[in-house]
Amino acid sequence: MKYLVHRGIKIPLIGFGSYGFGLDSQTARSEENTVRSGVESFGMTLIDTAESYGDGAGERFLGKIIKDFNRNDLFIVDKILPENAEKNGFFTSCRNSLDRLGVDSIDLYLLHWREGLALQGVVDGMEELVQSGMIKHWGVSNFDTADMAELFDCVNGENCFCNQILYNICTRGPEYELIPWCKEHDVLVMAYSPLCHGEKDRLAVARHPRVADIARRENKTPESLMLSFVIRNNDLVTVFKTSDINRLKNNMQNVFAPITKENDKALSQLFQAPDRRTKLKTI
Ligand SMILES: NC(=O)c1ccc[n+]([C@@H]2O[C@H](COP(=O)([O-])OP(=O)(O)OC[C@H]3O[C@@H](n4cnc5c(N)ncnc54)[C@H](OP(=O)(O)O)[C@@H]3O)[C@@H](O)[C@H]2O)c1
Repeated sequence: MKYLVHRGIKIPLIGFGSYGFGLDSQTARSEENTVRSGVESFGMTLIDTAESYGDGAGERFLGKIIKDFNRNDLFIVDKILPENAEKNGFFTSCRNSLDRLGVDSIDLYLLHWREGLALQGVVDGMEELVQSGMIKHWGVSNFDTADMAELFDCVNGENCFCNQILYNICTRGPEYELIPWCKEHDVLVMAYSPLCHGEKDRLAVARHPRVADIARRENKTPESLMLSFVIRNNDLVTVFKTSDINRLKNNMQNVFAPITKENDKALSQLFQAPDRRTKLKTI
C-alpha cells in the first residue's frame, strides 16, 4: 500500500468501498473474503461505509469482519444521513453506527450529502461528537465549491478533514475548481466510484482499445489503470468496491507504479479534463 499524510494522519491511498455489502446471503461469503483479503494482502485498511447502506445492515456486516483485526490498524469512514444531522440526531445516529460496527469510535464521520442543511448546526454537531470521543475527525461528502466555502465561513468549519466526491477518469469535473480548492484549504479529497460505478461506464473505459493498449504497456489491467489515474498525483485517496477476490487482485495489479507522462497525456486526450467549471456530479 502507498499512503499520504493528511493533518498528521497516515491514510492509505486506496480503501475499500462497501456499498451494497451484507445484503444478500448468497454473496456475503465472497464479500467477506474479499474485504479480508483487501486488508490482509493489500493493506486496504481504510473501509468506507454509511448508516444508509442497507439501513444499517452494511455496518453490521463490516462489524463482524472488523472484530478480527487490530482496531488501531483500521481507518473507518462512516456517513450520517442529512435527515439525522440535526441536534440530538447526531448523537443517536453515531451511537447506532458504533454499536452496529462494534467499535468505540469512528475515524472519519461524513455528512453524506447536504440536502439544504444549515451548516453551522452540522459543524457544531460534528464538533460535539469529536469532543465526546465518538469520532476522531469529521468531514462532508458531495459538497461542491460553494458549499465548501460556506462551510469554511462557519465557526470551526475549517476543521473539516475531508470531502468525499465522485471523481474518476470519465468524471473529471472536480479537477477544474473543487480539487484545487480543497488542496488550498487542506481538505482531503476522497474519490468515490473510481471504477466509474456502473458496468456501462466502466466498460466504456476498460474496453476502449487505446486504454487496453496503454494498460498492457504499463503492466496494469484496465481497472488498475483507472485507479492509478485517479491517484496519479498522490494527493488524494480513493475507495473502490468489489465483492470478488479475483477482481480485487486484478484492480490492484501494479496500481502504485506511476503512469508514464506519455501515457498520461494519451489518457487525458481520450478522457478530457474540463476547461471550465461544471456542477459537481453525484450518485
Ligand atoms: N459518498 C457518496 O455519496 C458515495 C456514493 C457512491 C459510492 N460511495 C462509496 O464509494 C465506493 C465505491 O464506489 P462504487 O461502489 O459506486 O463504484 P466503483 O468502486 O467505481 O465500482 C464498483 C462496481 O464495479 C464492479 N467491479 C469492481 N472491480 C471490477 C472488475 N475488475 N471487473 C468488473 N467489475 C468490477 C463492482 O462489482 P462487483 O462487486 O461485482 O465486483 C461494482 O459493481 C462505494 O462502495 C461506497 O463505499 C460513496
